[in-house]
Amino acid sequence: MRNFKNILVTGGAGFIGSNFIRWLLSNPGFSGRVVNFDVLTYAGNPESLDDVAAAAGKRYAFVKGDITDRAAVEKAFTEFDVDAVVHFAAESHVDRSIHGPETFVRTNVMGTFTLLDVARNAWKGREGVLFHHVSTDEVFGSLGETGKFTETTPYDPRSPYSASKASSDHLVMAYSHTYGLPVTMTNCSNNYGPFQFPEKLIPVMILNMLEGKSLPVYGDGRNVRDWLYVEDHNAAVWAVMTKGRLGETYNIGGENEWENLRLVNRLVELVAEESGRNVESLRSLIAFVKDRPGHDRRYAIDCSKLKRELGWTQSVDFDEGLRRTVRWYLDNPRWIERVRSGEYRTWMERNYSER
Ligand code: NAD
Ligand code: DAU
Repeated sequence: MRNFKNILVTGGAGFIGSNFIRWLLSNPGFSGRVVNFDVLTYAGNPESLDDVAAAAGKRYAFVKGDITDRAAVEKAFTEFDVDAVVHFAAESHVDRSIHGPETFVRTNVMGTFTLLDVARNAWKGREGVLFHHVSTDEVFGSLGETGKFTETTPYDPRSPYSASKASSDHLVMAYSHTYGLPVTMTNCSNNYGPFQFPEKLIPVMILNMLEGKSLPVYGDGRNVRDWLYVEDHNAAVWAVMTKGRLGETYNIGGENEWENLRLVNRLVELVAEESGRNVESLRSLIAFVKDRPGHDRRYAIDCSKLKRELGWTQSVDFDEGLRRTVRWYLDNPRWIERVRSGEYRTWMERNYSER
């Protein structure tokens, strides 16, 4: 079992990164320090961790920095004596990558390269260090009606987002093979839960329902995603970091496939129950809009390697996880107001007006 003292979490002000830090600092199996390295793009909100920062004292530090800025990354490595990196920072939204791919290449490819190269130099000859790369199932492309992605499925990325993540995955494995950098990697399916930026399917739908706005379903609504509660993703990342084989990649998934339209209908029922709104009025808000260009049809993950080797399994039932998520958005209007205060409105208006 690997043990770390100073973990650099990139992208810790985003959705999964902030949930990971919250989870890790309350995990009795970890007594070290977390350094959250995040440049705070539109998707990063340090307020997501205000309570955690106050409770953790010296066990938590925040550095506002860009992963493509080599000097800033080197400074963080030296200042905090970093012995592990868990790399969440990325441009993560497929629709945005279609409108503006360049930032995706800069952050996801060059940013990952910069982190890897700094780690290689900083850790020369050092034992007990680890670079963990957080990636996505989208690198494997799109499935038909049957089959699942395994760790050996050939890469076939089809959006600028997934192509940039695929590229970062290859760099991580190249640094392992060529320089012997101790790495592990995970490729996960769709996450949901608290603190997700309201540009992704589940929070868009919940918030639009609460505001009586239309519920934009892309194309025919028959695309399939495999949903996993964010805490289960984080537990899997930690299992791989502490017990996974070096140089290996592990798939993480919910084994929980839903067509988008079916999921939106289920959310309609849950939001009606939790908020007291009328279920049929909410359902009448569903609107089919123009499809996402190159929209991947189906993702499904085979996570048997992770289960078999490391004993991980999903722990949050989908209905229960969705209900918790709906309640969280109902209870956190301030957070929603804060993340929407940036260029949120411009982006949402442009994205949906073009559909
Ligand atoms: P997110 O968009 O919510 O958060 C990304 C965070 O990275 C933000 O806090 C942002 O400020 C930060 N960031 C962006 N560019 C940066 C830069 N140049 N330097 C420093 N920080 C920067 O993303 P998320 O949904 O939490 O995803 C986190 C990671 O998990 C990504 O690597 C993504 O590819 C991967 N992933 C996400 C999902 C999902 O369903 N959301 C599933 C599988 C894998
Ligand atoms: O599979 C993992 C990936 O999941 C991550 O790597 C990405 O970072 C993450 O954003 C997510 O990508 P998706 O494109 O699957 O997520 P999104 O929430 O954008 O869309 C989910 C599905 O819902 C997809 O089929 C598109 C559809 N959709 C999305 C939105 C935002 C709609 O029908 N309407 C919408 O308004």
